[in-house]
Amino acid sequence: MVILKEAEEIERIRASNRIVAEVLGELKERVKPGVTTIDLDRCSEELARKRNAKPAFKGYRGYPFSLCVSVNCEVVHGLPSQRVLAAGDIVSLDFGVYYKGYYGDAAVTVPVGDVSEEAARLIRVTEQGLYDGIQEAKAGNRLGDISAAVQGRVESAGFSVVRDFVGHGIGKNLHEDPQVPNYGVKGRGIELKVGMVLAIEPMVNEGTYKVRILDNGWTVVTDDVKLSAHFEHSVAITEHGPEILSALH
Ligand code: MF3
Ligand code: CO
Repeated sequence: MVILKEAEEIERIRASNRIVAEVLGELKERVKPGVTTIDLDRCSEELARKRNAKPAFKGYRGYPFSLCVSVNCEVVHGLPSQRVLAAGDIVSLDFGVYYKGYYGDAAVTVPVGDVSEEAARLIRVTEQGLYDGIQEAKAGNRLGDISAAVQGRVESAGFSVVRDFVGHGIGKNLHEDPQVPNYGVKGRGIELKVGMVLAIEPMVNEGTYKVRILDNGWTVVTDDVKLSAHFEHSVAITEHGPEILSALH
């Protein structure tokens, strides 16, 4: 069941997502060769707690950290560790908080030092796919319009969209209906309505769309060990069109 939100609830979801955006902004500046991924996790938790927000992922289905840090062929749900980031890596940071009854959730992929032209293009296309999807998040459109827009951008650039993980509604719960796939057919799916809040989150692979999960039970990696990127925004559908709640305006 899709839960529609009143304007006041959307303001609360915006407050949560503003914290997420601020934390991701600070983390991005810390991404440099020599930094460990556990440093970023600790930093994310501290920054959230300073703002009286609770890291949303810690304890969620037993997830043991505050931040998901996915490097290179890691798609999502990478576990922070003593791994040292090196120039040429790309790193996806996925972070969420719970604040005053509502969740916020967003993700970015950033280059570590100088990266290959192909890695930079993967990051650009993934972010562009997210923005193409967001543009379709308006009342009267269908869910498939978002999915098809993301998929079109990604596949016309020669990359592939992950099927096994999808975006989601967000509000009083981290994951609400509907599921928001990054592949689909324009004009299909549920009708989008004012008051829906969606976390749109393309996961885009350089090679095959196929993924597998490592033995740690969490880390999703590309089946061909090629690169993957991930961007996510929480987006409200308002009478004036899509509003990105997880951006620093
Ligand atoms: N942003 C991720 C999502 O939307 C959250 C990671 S899930 C967790 O599903 F289990 F790691 F918390
Ligand atoms: Co999400």
